[in-house]
Amino acid sequence: MRTIAIHNLKGGVGKTVTAISLSRILTAEYGKRVMLVDCDGQCNLTRFFIPREEDVPGVYEVLTGAHEPLWSDNVDRIDDRLCILAASSALYELDVAAITRGDANLGALRGFISAAEDDGEIDVVLFDCPPGFSAASCAALMAAREVLIPVLMDGFSLEGMADMTHQLRSLRSVNPGLKLAGVLINQWHRSPAVEKGEELLRSMPLPVCRTVIRRTDKVPESTFTKQPLPDYSRGSAAAHDYRALARELFGEAR
Ligand SMILES: Nc1ncnc2c1ncn2[C@@H]1O[C@H](COP(=O)(O)OP(=O)(O)O)[C@@H](O)[C@H]1O
Ligand SMILES: [Mg+2]
Repeated sequence: MRTIAIHNLKGGVGKTVTAISLSRILTAEYGKRVMLVDCDGQCNLTRFFIPREEDVPGVYEVLTGAHEPLWSDNVDRIDDRLCILAASSALYELDVAAITRGDANLGALRGFISAAEDDGEIDVVLFDCPPGFSAASCAALMAAREVLIPVLMDGFSLEGMADMTHQLRSLRSVNPGLKLAGVLINQWHRSPAVEKGEELLRSMPLPVCRTVIRRTDKVPESTFTKQPLPDYSRGSAAAHDYRALARELFGEAR
């Protein structure tokens, strides 16, 4: 089972869109059984798939021990091959509670994922992390074996990368096996600043994905229609790039 946390200290870099697009390609084209784990109190990923107003049980309950004993009773099924462990706005309270009262058991998410792995019903887990190091993002980085870091090619993002590698080092002291699956350049487009940024990033001692995800209006449009990008616009540049990313990370589809 592959377990990949999609993480960046910054928001708005494409973590959620990457989780949605990869999950769709892996289930539809690779036949993989995928579990999405929404660790972000903003609930973008959860609301994309579950258009309900009320909070559904999920990551918060796992981290506070209020979940159902059987892992599969806690996930929402989206289709035959895709399920989601939902986020809720309660994850924001958890950050305060984790610090002041030690309420969150950050290792509990790892236990939850191990139970799913033992049952052999899931092939890939993708964690959609909130920006920064919240209780839930730390829990995801502890539960994952790999981390994928989407970035935008602007000056602020590149400055943030140095901080990222520093913080990853401290997380490795909690999860020594955590592997950097790659830094993923998102919203790539032809411009001197972007190309310069890419050159700089590729000169750093970091694994940078060969694939870049091109900037395409179809991506924000797909978040309105709530269709994964590969369904909303199969032929778009970004959908093509996400398929290339799937090949880079998972090999050829069956
Ligand atoms: N390749 C892309 N081209 C154009 N817009 C994109 C692309 N990837 C992401 N976006 C847009 O950027 C915004 C942030 O993406 P999102 O996945 O929500 O980021 P994060 O989860 O890191 O906060 C969204 O409005 C999304 O539609
Ligand atoms: Mg997000």
